Amino acid sequence: MMPRLGSFGSLEECQVPPVRIINQSNRHFPLRLLLLWLLLGAGITFSFLSLYTSWCVTEQTVDVPITQSKIQQCFQESDNVHSWIRTRSSILHEMNDTELFWRASFVPKIEKYPFDRTPKIAFMFLTRGPLPLAPLWEKFLKGKDKLYSIYIHSLPLYQPEFLPSSAFYGRQIRSQVAEWGTMSMCDAERRLLANALLDISNEWFILLSEACIPLQNFTTIYTYLSRSHFSFIGAYDEPGPYGRGRYNPRMRPEINITNWRKGSQWFEIDRELAVNVVQDTFYYSKFEQFCRPDCYVDEHYFPTMLSIKSPHLLANRTLTWVDWSRGGPHPATFEETDITDELFKTILNGGTCMYNDQPTDLCFLFARKFAPSALDHLLQHSSKFFGF
Ligand SMILES: *[C@@H]1O[C@H](CO)[C@@H](O)[C@H](O)[C@H]1NC(C)=O
Ligand SMILES: *[C@@H]1O[C@H](CO)[C@@H](O)[C@H](O)[C@H]1NC(C)=O
Ligand SMILES: *[C@@H]1O[C@H](CO)[C@@H](O)[C@H](O)[C@H]1NC(C)=O
Ligand SMILES: *[C@@H]1O[C@H](CO)[C@@H](O)[C@H](O)[C@H]1NC(C)=O
Repeated sequence: MMPRLGSFGSLEECQVPPVRIINQSNRHFPLRLLLLWLLLGAGITFSFLSLYTSWCVTEQTVDVPITQSKIQQCFQESDNVHSWIRTRSSILHEMNDTELFWRASFVPKIEKYPFDRTPKIAFMFLTRGPLPLAPLWEKFLKGKDKLYSIYIHSLPLYQPEFLPSSAFYGRQIRSQVAEWGTMSMCDAERRLLANALLDISNEWFILLSEACIPLQNFTTIYTYLSRSHFSFIGAYDEPGPYGRGRYNPRMRPEINITNWRKGSQWFEIDRELAVNVVQDTFYYSKFEQFCRPDCYVDEHYFPTMLSIKSPHLLANRTLTWVDWSRGGPHPATFEETDITDELFKTILNGGTCMYNDQPTDLCFLFARKFAPSALDHLLQHSSKFFGF
């Protein structure tokens, strides 16, 4: 008796059609078989070749034109330094998180790069799905192709609809569901960092949401980041129930109450700190066990861990402006009618802060939260507001 295969019918039923076809063609059997084999062989060879070629082509450095000799080179084992440092035009890979984090933690131990390295900014978008403000970002990024990369983490089933000409096209990483206040949110951020670390030219890693906008032109932002001695992540010691009150003494002695830090998740960190975040399993397990709602792990894990491991590298402030003045659990969202000269005067003249141990009045390079309805006004006045 054949086993039943659920609702798909019995195995017996499935096998009937192929058997009949072979029976009908019995007379020409050897010739047909030979032809079939030849065709199959040719097909496999062809698809193997084209697969290998396309793999090879995507492996090439983006700005080098693909010539005949390039493709030929590809069929030989490449073992020069460029095979390790090239920027892949596709960010797709088959690694799961364990494999990805391991690979992303590779660090060269000789400080001087033996090739010309133009450091890039990795803009990492943590989103649910669409990026309604993408046109503003595209305007901001225009003409700077060699100085940035983009990575997008969204809901796993979201299908982006960017045109091939867009800076956001094909920049979606393998994603998983991320929930506010839980470790899955930190996992998403680590996944973005790990993917961005695979490109050795990425030097500064900025976490953004779909509601973020740039407040300066690209040159100003690039210069600000590249000349800074510190990374910009909010990390402050807050007394009271929403700060120290969320600390769990069971994290002792690795994390004391005096180590406990809070900060918004929208950070800018350099390559060294990004590796710190991706490689950490020690503090990770402490936070996973002992920081659960009402302890919101995405507000504490990175600031606390980095303050213990690399306090000398932190500016302890964020570059992303946000408006809490309206009160309540969520910051203000700016709609079409809020986009005025006054708003950006308020943001840009918001006081002073420290930059490389000197006071400055340029404290914020990004701002949130902006609604999709704000896009037209922002685009229309971007040169007046932001200088691009
Ligand atoms: C990734 O794959 C490796 C090897 O199959 C396995 O050991 C590991 O547990 C996997 N990790 C995840 C997060 O699935
Ligand atoms: C960028 O902005 C700065 C300051 O706002 C300005 O001085 C500079 O000319 C701008 N650069 C470009 C390329 O627009
Ligand atoms: C926490 O305090 C204990 C005892 O005072 C000390 O030994 C330990 O080094 C501290 N941990 C950190 C991370 O500072
Ligand atoms: C940031 O805070 C740490 C302590 O957590 C301190 O060591 C460091 O000097 C601070 N950074 C700056 C730029 O003041």
